[in-house]
Amino acid sequence: MFQKNRVSRNAISSDNKQAWPALLDAGVSLGYQRNIVQRQISRDPAKGTPDGKQNMDRIRIVGGNELNGEITISGAKNAALPLMISSLLTAEPLVLENVPRLADVKQLERILENHGVDIAVNGRRPDEDDMGGQRIIFTANKIVDTCAPYELVSTMRASFWVIGPLLAREHEARVSLPGGCAIGTRPVDFYLEGLKQLGAEIDIEDGYVVAKAPNGGLIGNRVTFPKVSVGATHTVMMAATLAKGTTIIENAAQEPEVGNLARCLVAMGAKIDGIDTSTLTIQGVTELHGATHEVLPDRIETGTYAMAVAMTGGDVLLKGGNVKNLQAAVDVLKATGVDISQEKTGIRVRRNGNGLQPVDVETNPFPGFPTDLQAQYMALMTRSTGTANIRETIFENRFMHVAELARFGADIKVDGQLATVTGVPELRGAQVMATDLRASVSLVIAGLAANGETIVNRIYHLDRGFERLEEKLSRCGATIERISG
Ligand code: EPZ
Repeated sequence: MFQKNRVSRNAISSDNKQAWPALLDAGVSLGYQRNIVQRQISRDPAKGTPDGKQNMDRIRIVGGNELNGEITISGAKNAALPLMISSLLTAEPLVLENVPRLADVKQLERILENHGVDIAVNGRRPDEDDMGGQRIIFTANKIVDTCAPYELVSTMRASFWVIGPLLAREHEARVSLPGGCAIGTRPVDFYLEGLKQLGAEIDIEDGYVVAKAPNGGLIGNRVTFPKVSVGATHTVMMAATLAKGTTIIENAAQEPEVGNLARCLVAMGAKIDGIDTSTLTIQGVTELHGATHEVLPDRIETGTYAMAVAMTGGDVLLKGGNVKNLQAAVDVLKATGVDISQEKTGIRVRRNGNGLQPVDVETNPFPGFPTDLQAQYMALMTRSTGTANIRETIFENRFMHVAELARFGADIKVDGQLATVTGVPELRGAQVMATDLRASVSLVIAGLAANGETIVNRIYHLDRGFERLEEKLSRCGATIERISG
């Protein structure tokens, strides 16, 4: 059925009205029907992207203010994306709560719509926290296209993960090789090998992975990943839910986002044992059903703001933050001298202006120190009282922020996968350029502590993964604003 050139359809199409009763069952109240829209209308963080143009807005920061107050942590991008993709596994509605308003979420909505998923977004109720997440209903009543074309997939690596559910449910998929942040070569060999273990036949044709499950579907098997991969674990786990027999995934990623997806799949009727461990046992079922599931709070956003407070000083409650999902980073921040404690409603971060101790860090799969906080931590260490070694072990090209941090006057030397950061007495505001998502926010952290004005250019990377960043920070006292491009 591949249908390479299909275009997006309307959210609630006329040929799919049967989805409505199910939507109502799923909790979409009648009073809010008129607010169900295909796309979030109140605020569009992905401004400029629907027609393919990149957002050229800039962020202006005047550094030097302490951060004080509260920041609401949004739903995790890296949990929301695979959860959205899992909607392809069932004909019934999957209701996701606490979905963040991000450019990557919007891009994935377009990709899912192309496969035939109907998407309905609830409007915000008057009494809801204005920083609260979205409730979105995904209904893949009928998969109308098993091709994920280059134009849609090339900007976001996670969109490649549709290959798992499509193969499991439709027994075929044609998916463009992925793009995403330029932080390394990022191959897909583990995915393809894992799917082959489940009986898939795979060819590469014109930049597309063409996968088929002959003999009536995938067949459960043992899949041992040579290295921990979050995306390959998501993909093979989703595929295995509808395979015949039992699949055992060894050396599975244990990131909380994998557990979040596994719990959603279980709510949809999947049989999965070993959730949150490195061995997942999945007993295939013939079909999955609809469910309601909440996206977990974003641990990387939490860690990022914790580092921002560590950088500027102050006292901020990160509402919704959970130390359990961030222990390695919390331990490191404590060792630098930052005061962090779990409270009932979130994580409190305080620094009273004492010097920051240099602490060495090596990135590792969960529960290790996350690679997605490496750039932010490097920004923090530019103001330490000594020298810290930061070793990146996950991606081979994730030091692109070093050259930009140098514009603030940072002292960083790179030797292969090791960056040596020597603290400097002051950072000076600068014109800098965002290069990838987490690198971008490291520049914001540096700007918050720098003397004078900083302009961060190319912030479309930030909009991919940080919801209303400038608003969250300015509410805590930062001088930060978006300048339209
Ligand atoms: C996920 O990427 C995250 N993305 C990344 O966050 C995160 O940095 C990464 O996991 C590691 O935690 C999402 O969740 C959407 P991997 P993923 O497969 O799944 C190698 C962000 O900023 N590898 O765990 O793509 C790979 O090259 C993003 O939010 C293979 O060699 O990462 C890397 O070295 C960036 N072959 C390592 O494994 C494969 O087939 C781990 O990558 C697959 C991966």
